[in-house]
Amino acid sequence: MIEQLQQLRKTVREQLGKLNKLDEVNALRVNALGRKGEITRLLRGLKDLEAEERIHAGKAANLIKEELEQNFEQQITNIKKRLLEEKIKAETIDVTLPGFPPPKGSKHPLSQISEEICDIFMGFGFKVAEGPEIELDYYNFEALNFPADHPTRDMQDSFYIDEKHLLRTHTSPVQVRVMEKMAPELPVKIIVPGRVYRKDDDATHSPMFHQIEGLLIDSHITFANLKGVLMMFAYQIFNKNVKVRYRPSFFPFTEPSAEMDISCVNCEGKGCRVCSDTGWLEILGAGMVHPQVLKAGGYDPEKVTGFAFGMGIERIAMLKYGINDLRLFFDNDRRFLQQF
Ligand code: DAH
Repeated sequence: MIEQLQQLRKTVREQLGKLNKLDEVNALRVNALGRKGEITRLLRGLKDLEAEERIHAGKAANLIKEELEQNFEQQITNIKKRLLEEKIKAETIDVTLPGFPPPKGSKHPLSQISEEICDIFMGFGFKVAEGPEIELDYYNFEALNFPADHPTRDMQDSFYIDEKHLLRTHTSPVQVRVMEKMAPELPVKIIVPGRVYRKDDDATHSPMFHQIEGLLIDSHITFANLKGVLMMFAYQIFNKNVKVRYRPSFFPFTEPSAEMDISCVNCEGKGCRVCSDTGWLEILGAGMVHPQVLKAGGYDPEKVTGFAFGMGIERIAMLKYGINDLRLFFDNDRRFLQQF
């Protein structure tokens, strides 16, 4: 009996050593130690033994059972440990793998154009200045020689916040704000990019848009300086072949006033849909600073002169890139924005 038990112990341990799956181990365990298992079957023979032998064999059987139980537990622990290690290994992150690049943004086309325009004028020695978007009626109109209740204000209807405050309709108010700060220092040579607001809304007008204002005041500034500076600007922002012309115009804050046209960038002046068959495109307003405006800024119109100009950034961008609907700039459609 004891021999048989020892033989059983040996084979079970051998088999167990070869197993590496939990369910196989459990099956073997039931088979060897279970109620209907091998040992139980052998022990049934105890009753046929002599009393002394029976005691021996019983003891040996118990020892072997205990030992095998421990062997099974040990094997189960080993398998579980191995499975866990495999799992951890499979789940480890390889930090050396290349990651997913975050989507890259880019500058809005209007910011790009605005910076390009400012860069050109900075090359001519202008400095960038800024002013508030919520502006006093005084700076937006009064100081620029738009009298109260005068029909000239109709050109720029705006959003009023109260009697005195409005969303500025143009960047021109910054002219007087800067002059007030600088007077009597010369020259005043500034470029002013910024947002402006008007009661307009269609394919070429938006209630919010962007302008760039320019102002140059010194002791001997003439209309020839205005023409020279703006012509050089047109060559740089478009190309050396554009032609430039000036048409008489009216602005309350300049005298004389003009509008500058460039030859159509689409048809080079032959006439097309972009230029309504005229061959010319209007790109900015300009003029010699009105004496009243110089006075409002603290300068003596007898001693200094200056020129000013203002242009819409959207318009320049539309002409430069051949865009026909201004609203595209504000829709935030990435298919449009990614092209710049
Ligand atoms: N402020 C004008 C507008 O928004 C544009 C303008 C015209 C600005 C002539 C100027 C200028 O400085 O001299 O319509």
